[in-house]
Amino acid sequence: MTRSEQLFEEAARYIPGGVNNPLRSFAETGQTPRFIRRADESRVYDVDGHVYIDFVCSGGAALLGHNPPLVRKAVLEAVQNGLNYEACAETELKLAKLIVQLVPSVQMVRMVSSVTEAILSAVCVARSVTGRKRLIKFSGCRHGSFDAVEGEGDSSGFSLLCGSDQDALVAQYNDLNSVERLFEKNKGQIAAVIIEPLAAHMGIVEPEPEFLQDLRKLCSQNKTILIFDETVTGFRLALGGAQEYYGVKPDMTIFGEIIGAGLPAGAFGGSRAIMEQLAPVGPVYQTDACNGNPVAMAAGFAQLSSVLNQPLLYEKLAREGEKLRAGLRGLFPQCTVGGVGSVSSLLFTPGPVKNDKDARSSDKGEFVRYFSHMLENGIFMMPSQFEPIFLSGAHTERDVEMFLEASAEFLA
Ligand SMILES: Cc1ncc(COP(=O)(O)O)c(C=O)c1O
Repeated sequence: MTRSEQLFEEAARYIPGGVNNPLRSFAETGQTPRFIRRADESRVYDVDGHVYIDFVCSGGAALLGHNPPLVRKAVLEAVQNGLNYEACAETELKLAKLIVQLVPSVQMVRMVSSVTEAILSAVCVARSVTGRKRLIKFSGCRHGSFDAVEGEGDSSGFSLLCGSDQDALVAQYNDLNSVERLFEKNKGQIAAVIIEPLAAHMGIVEPEPEFLQDLRKLCSQNKTILIFDETVTGFRLALGGAQEYYGVKPDMTIFGEIIGAGLPAGAFGGSRAIMEQLAPVGPVYQTDACNGNPVAMAAGFAQLSSVLNQPLLYEKLAREGEKLRAGLRGLFPQCTVGGVGSVSSLLFTPGPVKNDKDARSSDKGEFVRYFSHMLENGIFMMPSQFEPIFLSGAHTERDVEMFLEASAEFLA
């Protein structure tokens, strides 16, 4: 028995399913989750002495790779000064100013401790601004722990937040008509539309030309708040995220753990008028003792300010991402390879994939065989073909080649 197998057997007695996030479960792959001991640059090391090239990258948060010296130094310095204060600190301000500087639509930002919390709070703000209750989300887009069921039954999760199923409305990604129909049926009742501008959990599915622009127009016409969930895309697709990349300004934006360089953190932002709905200025009471945690803020500031000083980073990520996708397309002509910049996906379906319904036609058995082969050959990925294959600033062309070589061996 390997050490990972021993630990997992024990973990399953104390932690539901042995995992603290169902996305980490290997249950459907017939594999045992590898217990990670250490992560550095583009590599993770497990407790059995195996080294993997990591394409999970802390769910995308490790934009510069694991444990970059600048971030490590900032964290160690911050830790010297205490772990959390429940009081104001300059690091919160530094990071907030940087986010506002980088993201076109954001004038003010509130730091929280997780993405789920950021979304919950942003929705409360949107409801307060509009005086309305209902939400539209897109089937297959993930927005935290409200999505109880991935892919199917999306509204069931959101209903937790909405109070009733009728308040959670589900549209199809890349289908503006499906959104128009919901607006028509619920005239004057939609507080917010929330979307991943680049859908990243049904494989990577790009918005079709004009889809985001038309959604923007529709929301403005209906005086509805448009929320971009930029957990995956924020600071990753471009410094200003997907809204800069696609040239569409949402009313509110959600940021993920990338703002803490992987430490527990999230944030949401928007215009001053919207954000001043929050207490102590406005009526929406949003609190958490760890909001703006000084260690997470220091880590996030170090990572993002370091990115600012690397003007070629996005070109490098795009070049390596393109190499990965071109290689996969050559190897798997019968599959759908998606992606932009440093996020990619391989779906075992010929496609085309425009939404989660298309994505779900993919062959799970084939993915399971591919995943196992890759894992056993030193490639660490999320145990689902719907999750992104991430690259970081620490990945090299050779890392990408090794990914492709392992993929070629799978076919052989
Ligand atoms: C787009 C998006 N939104 C929300 C979440 C949920 O984040 P968390 O589970 O950290 O609260 C994720 C995480 O995968 C995500 O990718």
